[in-house]
Amino acid sequence: MDVTITLTVNGKRKTVTTDPQRPLLDVLREDLDLTGSKYSCGEGLCGACTVLMDGDLILSCITPVGEVDNKAITTIEGLATGDSLHPVQEAFLAEDAVQCGYCAPGMIMTSAALLKKKPRPTDEEVVEWMNGNLCRCCGYPKILTAIRRAARQGSEVKVS
Ligand code: FES
Ligand code: FES
Repeated sequence: MDVTITLTVNGKRKTVTTDPQRPLLDVLREDLDLTGSKYSCGEGLCGACTVLMDGDLILSCITPVGEVDNKAITTIEGLATGDSLHPVQEAFLAEDAVQCGYCAPGMIMTSAALLKKKPRPTDEEVVEWMNGNLCRCCGYPKILTAIRRAARQGSEVKVS
C-alpha cells in the first residue's frame, strides 16, 4: 500500500506517495529527477548510490524510502553551492579522477563525508574509509590523489 512520505532533499521539502519499500535511489532518480546518484550493483556492494541522510552516509539502493520519512537527504546535486562546486568536486576535476564517471558521485559523497569528519586523513584512513566504493575503471590512484588535494584545500560538506 502506498504511503505519503515527506523528506528534505538538498534543502527542499518534497512529498512523495509511493510504496514505502521502494529503494530511495529509485525515488530520487525516477520521482524527483535527481539522476546523479547511480544504480550499479543494487545490492549495497559498490557505493555508486551513496547519499547522506541527516549527515550520515547511506546506500540509497538498499534504503527503503519509508525509512527516510522526515529525514534530510543530500545528493551529489546538493553538494555545490550555486555555481561553486564543492572542494571535493573541484579536486576530482583538477586531478582528472573521473574516467567513465559512474562511480564518481558515490566517491565524492563518501570522501566529502570523510573530510567533514576528519579534515586531514592519512592515506591509510582514506583507503579504509573508501573501501566500500568500487571503481570499475580502477581509477583508484587518481581518486586518492584527488582526495589528498581536497584535504589540502580544506573541505566542508554542508548538510541540508
Ligand atoms: S548501487 Fe547501491 S551499493 Fe551498488
Ligand atoms: S571512473 Fe568508471 S567506475 Fe570509476
